[in-house]
Amino acid sequence: MQFIDLKAQYAALKAEIDGGIARVLEKGQYIGGDEVAALEEKLAGFTGRKHCITCANGTDALQIAYMINGIGKGDAVFCPDITFVSSTEASKLLGATSVFCDIDPDTYDISPESLERQIKAVIKEGRLRPRAVVAVDILGNPCDYGAILPICEKYGLILVEDAAQSFGASYKGKKCCSFGDISTTSFFPAKPLGCYGDGGAIFTDDDGAASLCRSVCVHGKGPRGKYDNVRVGLNSRLDALQAAILIPKLRALGEYETDRRQDVARRYNEAFAGALKTPFVTDGCVSVYAQYAVLADSTEKRDNIAAHLKALGIPTMIYYPTPQHALPVFADEPRYGETFANADDYCARTLSLPMHPYLAPEEQDRIINAVLEAI
Ligand SMILES: Cc1ncc(COP(=O)(O)O)c(C=O)c1O
Repeated sequence: MQFIDLKAQYAALKAEIDGGIARVLEKGQYIGGDEVAALEEKLAGFTGRKHCITCANGTDALQIAYMINGIGKGDAVFCPDITFVSSTEASKLLGATSVFCDIDPDTYDISPESLERQIKAVIKEGRLRPRAVVAVDILGNPCDYGAILPICEKYGLILVEDAAQSFGASYKGKKCCSFGDISTTSFFPAKPLGCYGDGGAIFTDDDGAASLCRSVCVHGKGPRGKYDNVRVGLNSRLDALQAAILIPKLRALGEYETDRRQDVARRYNEAFAGALKTPFVTDGCVSVYAQYAVLADSTEKRDNIAAHLKALGIPTMIYYPTPQHALPVFADEPRYGETFANADDYCARTLSLPMHPYLAPEEQDRIINAVLEAI
């Protein structure tokens, strides 16, 4: 059994994917071109954003978002304690300081209360300048934008939505990748919308920000093209082949894959009710369940479930074993007395089960029975 079955998805979309790849090879235009332009238009339309700029991966997308906002030394970037290192790795690379915030105990996204506490602590200390919040829709579950947006407005902070795990999800009728000043996503193969290599995208409604992103993606190009370098940039582009692969995958995600993920989650939720803490999705929101994570009663019980499933050939994963504040790379970041109790508890008990839109009912039965047996 696969944890995420990309081969089953390929089998379902083979004709369209192979056709798209063949068209690119026949045209011989491998960088930029029609496929990339068509994909960007479709992605912008899907999310409801004015602009979509594709790039080489989700980490670059975040770096570009930080670069065009001039984030650097002396700046504080507020980030949830549960995420992948990419969320603030790029801002740290630019010289900024990562200020971690505890998570909400139900959604596992950034806690608005902890965020405001940390902002106030930074202001009180007076050493760093509060600049940006990176809101990560963790495991595909949208953040509480109703609470986060007013906090960003109140303190004049840039809101970066890290939607690497949440493409296709929505918050109260609005699609993820449409929140805040700028949003980013990843097309890493295992993501809800993944390509067959690395890829990423940036979304914004701001014309000026969009043209800065396009410049940074191509070595800081100026109005006269790629040899008119007006700022320090990157070489960060999505290949035409990846765009051709993503076009049919985006169609499938919109037409049925997101619904199928809901069906799998609903079955898991019903089966595990009362036995495990199942994912909580706020009313009016849709998670894409990039991961379906349950919390066991203790680390020992979590590890027992994982071991039992492994013995039966069922893969599981832990997303994530370590909160950001405990990673060696962030050992020197200030904590301002925050305890990160929810994040620590989450890491100690979380376990992700196989989840993807092609998980057959019989496979779901096997997983459910195995988990219940272990408990
Ligand atoms: C929350 C989050 N942000 C950013 C990234 C970075 O994406 P990429 O791997 O495409 O650089 C990831 C990918 O794992 C992620 O999960």
